[in-house]
Amino acid sequence: MSLQDKDRIFTNLYGFQDWGLKAAQKRGDWDKTKAIMAKGQDSIIDEMKASGLRGRGGAGFPTGLKWSFMPKESKDGRPSFLVINADESEPGSCKDREIIRHDPHKLIEGALIAGYAMRARAAYIYIRGEYIREAETLQKAIDEAYAAGLIGKNASKSGYDFDVFMHRGAGAYICGEETAMIESLEGKKGQPRLKPPFPAGAGLYGCPTTVNNVESIAVVPTILRRGASWFSSFGNEGNHGTKLFQISGHVEKPCVVEEEMGIPFKELIEKHCGGITGGWDNLLAVIPGGSSVPLVPAHDIIDAPMDFDGLKAVGSGLGTAAVIVMDKSTDIVRAISRLSYFYKHESCGQCTPCREGTGWMWRMMERLRVGDAEIDEIDMLQQVTKQVEGHTICALGDAAAWPIQGLIKHFRPELERRIHEHNASFSEAAE
Ligand code: NAI
Ligand code: SF4
Repeated sequence: MSLQDKDRIFTNLYGFQDWGLKAAQKRGDWDKTKAIMAKGQDSIIDEMKASGLRGRGGAGFPTGLKWSFMPKESKDGRPSFLVINADESEPGSCKDREIIRHDPHKLIEGALIAGYAMRARAAYIYIRGEYIREAETLQKAIDEAYAAGLIGKNASKSGYDFDVFMHRGAGAYICGEETAMIESLEGKKGQPRLKPPFPAGAGLYGCPTTVNNVESIAVVPTILRRGASWFSSFGNEGNHGTKLFQISGHVEKPCVVEEEMGIPFKELIEKHCGGITGGWDNLLAVIPGGSSVPLVPAHDIIDAPMDFDGLKAVGSGLGTAAVIVMDKSTDIVRAISRLSYFYKHESCGQCTPCREGTGWMWRMMERLRVGDAEIDEIDMLQQVTKQVEGHTICALGDAAAWPIQGLIKHFRPELERRIHEHNASFSEAAE
């Protein structure tokens, strides 16, 4: 159940070869793109549905199904757009960065094919502001593709006109939320919109829009070349294909690696990271999908299949597959408190439960970190997370609540221990 080199989509993930057009073409990119497009829009969408690809940005929505929401005919002459989310800002996530650095032509070719399938006039790639070198590489790759006639007028001689624009963000995490990204692209403050309407109904400039993650788009050309059944032959039911995992923290060799969906956690770490620092008995907990998913304690994660359903079964999620490994040297309360600060800092502030709740949760977490609290405040904090979860405009509220819920669920004795110790030392000092 682990991937062979011949089945890897990202053959230049580590940048051993040149990212430029000629080298990319030698690796198979831009090969018979016209013939793929000639299969027709509906047939491409059907193939993507059959492949079982689920969105790689975190939510796991089926990609082909999302494309099928786009209108087949233009209403009132309005164009349709593809927006590619390269605002990768989830703590722990760094896979889209590697694609853009070393395989940008997979993304640009994917943009053309996906854009054509959903009848989009153009793609906007929204790249996070901190990715300065990556933005330079991407723009050069876009320029190369224009110069070679692969995109632009009569793109790849398909008879279809398709433009690709790159847009740099300015450092706000919330602009990775799809509707905040659309607002930002329109030149407004990046704040999420209420959904519905979903972007396919009213997106960029009010036009039909699909927002897809970089990895979701970059795998499209290979899926269509090798076939839906090839891609869906990997992984488990409902969790198909290969996936980039980004493993950081207390492993011997942190890395980004393409693996089969559903690979068990232990196998992933043994095969690619040289194991846990200090050995498996030293593992404390893992955040398996970027900071927005709850942590999983060591005994639950070891055999868990690394896919959407396998991680859901242990109370967490695959998210972006940013696997943050924590050994027993970790101050787990401090780690989660630090994440709470992140969400407080990144809240856009437009809805009250998130604006007020994230600050409240962070302050409470800081008191728990040093034990300066009463035992019943643990339940109070849990209640606050429940008031935030599901009561906000976008998923940032949930993302702020879940890590704390995971901490209380799995590490309540540690929280209680700190409170008892702190109160005991306080009483001693008073005597
Ligand atoms: P979501 O579940 O609301 O939506 C997922 C996608 O499916 C969206 O494109 C949405 O428009 C579409 N969709 C869902 N229901 C639909 C319907 N009924 N009709 C039409 N389209 C529909 O999730 P969201 O808020 O887009 O993403 C949350 C995830 O993002 C989190 O799970 C987190 O893991 C991830 N995330 C990733 C980051 C990164 O750096 N890559 C940063 C922050 C969060
Ligand atoms: Fe803004 Fe937070 Fe509301 Fe999302 S949940 S819209 S980040 S205030």
